[in-house]
Amino acid sequence: MKKIITYGTFDIFHSGHLELLKRIKELGDYVIVGVSTDEFNLTEKNKISYFPYKDRKAIIEALKYVDLVIPEESWEQKIADIKKYDIDIFVIGNDWETKFDYLKDYGIEVIYLERTPNISTSTVKKELKYK
Ligand code: CTP
Repeated sequence: MKKIITYGTFDIFHSGHLELLKRIKELGDYVIVGVSTDEFNLTEKNKISYFPYKDRKAIIEALKYVDLVIPEESWEQKIADIKKYDIDIFVIGNDWETKFDYLKDYGIEVIYLERTPNISTSTVKKELKYK
């Protein structure tokens, strides 16, 4: 069984998020999503999510492309997660290109998928302010 892991905030869930998770599921059998906690977003990613962790987690958990949701609470946890869940592939959007190449040292494949053009949580946030 091929196990895949990805991480992200997934705030104001949009079609770019859905498309990414759909393509991830096509790469294997079991998809784990690390959803960034509110505190991790604030202290490490310098962003305040509109929807709290509990709600963002519930949305991701309801998707047919996702098998398990875990909290993302630190940058370092990836290595522990890879070992704990016996991960084969780490996948993330290509806005992170090369950033996680070091995970290959842990015997897994690292894949950067092309982002869906013209949609992001930040654009939605910005545009809604003007309408
Ligand atoms: N993603 C994607 N296509 C998009 C937007 C996001 O493939 N148009 C991917 C990202 O590359 C990441 C995952 O979805 O792997 C979660 O991204 P996240 O940062 O939560 O969403 P963004 O819309 O990029 O949020 P922001 O604008 O706050 O950066």
